[in-house]
Amino acid sequence: MKVSVSLNINGSLALFEVESDERLVDTLRDKAGLTGTKVGCGIGECGACSVLMNGKLVASCLVLTASADGAEITTVEGLGRDGQLSDLQKAFVDEGAIQCGYCTPGMLMASAYLLARYKRPTTAQIRHGLAGNLCRCTGYTKIISAIRKTARKRSIRRSGR
Ligand code: FES
Ligand code: FES
Repeated sequence: MKVSVSLNINGSLALFEVESDERLVDTLRDKAGLTGTKVGCGIGECGACSVLMNGKLVASCLVLTASADGAEITTVEGLGRDGQLSDLQKAFVDEGAIQCGYCTPGMLMASAYLLARYKRPTTAQIRHGLAGNLCRCTGYTKIISAIRKTARKRSIRRSGR
């Protein structure tokens, strides 16, 4: 059965006709053309499909698009502004936190969510925040460095130093 769904994706309203069992990740990738969001396991285990839905981190492979009607969705494409990478994305590049890159969009979304909750997260808080995101390449150390660096720079900017 087809269902009409409206989503606010990265600040733009979009309307979709979807099957009632269509997954949000498939709507984002196949209908909205936002292929930054990846599919890894498809069962909520790897975090590659992570997006923000109404400000909360979700595995979009576990969300039915029909159930997201009216939601605000942020994907990795929505992190930067005016074609520029966000400070967090730049830190991932600068710290070498990306190897094959398959986990990276999900890692960025989990990191963005973490930094929205904690201005200066501890290493334990970062590890906990990334617990749902698997990376088979980097060993996580550089990802953690990138998050710490972003938090540090934002803190300096806030204090005007
Ligand atoms: S693809 Fe969704 S958690 Fe792995
Ligand atoms: S960079 Fe390859 S899975 Fe994380």
